[in-house]
Amino acid sequence: MKGIILHGGHGTRLRPLTHTGPKQLIPIANKPISQYVLEDLRNSGITDIAIILGDVLPEKVKSYYDDGSKFDVKITYITQEKPAGIAHAVGLAEDFVGENPFVVYLGDNMLKGGISKYVQEFQKENSDAIVLLCKVENPQQFGVAEFDKEGNIVRLIEKPKKPPSNYALTGIYFFKPPIFKMIKKLKPSWRGELEITEAIQNLLDEGYRVSHRIVEGWWKDTGTVEDIIEANILVLDELEPRIEGKVEDKFSVQGRVAIEKNAHVKKGALIRGPAIIGENSILEENVYVGPYTSIGNNVKVIKGEIENSIIMDNCTIEINTKIIDSIIGANSEVITNQKGPKGHRLLVGENSKIIF
Ligand code: TTP
Repeated sequence: MKGIILHGGHGTRLRPLTHTGPKQLIPIANKPISQYVLEDLRNSGITDIAIILGDVLPEKVKSYYDDGSKFDVKITYITQEKPAGIAHAVGLAEDFVGENPFVVYLGDNMLKGGISKYVQEFQKENSDAIVLLCKVENPQQFGVAEFDKEGNIVRLIEKPKKPPSNYALTGIYFFKPPIFKMIKKLKPSWRGELEITEAIQNLLDEGYRVSHRIVEGWWKDTGTVEDIIEANILVLDELEPRIEGKVEDKFSVQGRVAIEKNAHVKKGALIRGPAIIGENSILEENVYVGPYTSIGNNVKVIKGEIENSIIMDNCTIEINTKIIDSIIGANSEVITNQKGPKGHRLLVGENSKIIF
């Protein structure tokens, strides 16, 4: 079986973070979202993987994953020139897939339980597709399944006003080659994209067997800032505590905390987990890092408090206040203005959001 990771898209809801890289490389607990996807495929025995690159700095994806050998997989890169839809991206992988069954995994989706069980089932059963569904509270925002009396899927409806069920399509699909015939028949939808829900609907309409599974555990589609912060909470909740760096005073570390190699927690700092502190990062005395915080590599926290936030690599934080529910992109500085007239001095890129 082969795997396809979708690594394109507009990423408009995550600007400005997506001005400098694809959203799938945003770190959750210091690891890119798409790496969780790649590892789930690999742990399910799928090592022949195509990554569909988009038009937002695809070279960053190539330089991170390279040929895949570091991750024990073989990667083929395919370029999607424009984000013309999920089905369009899948269609580009026809030659890569050949006659094999395959999994499509959206590179910004995370599934707690992983897919290995479904991979095995798909190889045994004779359906033409399996879709993974998740029970949600707000089905209006998803592709939703409608079932017949026997519990089989009869229809898939994209963002319905009156949802026929609470079961949303996750971003993980198991297909066989007939899906390519269905994709070729698609026309762009109202939003100008080739929709995967329509391609699956075509399979149903033409009598192909589409079965489904309800996922166990959590599933997270990380399309918005709130989703990213929540995914960070969910992953940190299962963090394996470890101290590989230097902690001057053991009372500085409370709860589920990972301190990576060469990180340095000075005496008087306090980390209350779940939290992760990346390699070579420094927490000075009196710094407080509260629950659900991921601090990347080479970060200097000189002064201040941080809670429920993601601080990416190479940042400097020196503040008289507390940062909460925030995402700070790599190479940023957040500093309290010590000199000059009172007020906030800002140097803010396009599409940023600042809440004082
Ligand atoms: P979405 O999050 O639905 O779309 P988007 O990336 O365009 O984001 P936004 O709505 O914020 O502008 O995409 C779902 C996943 O599919 C995501 O991992 C990106 C990927 N994708 C592609 O690879 N190619 C595409 O053409 C599209 C539309 C999405």
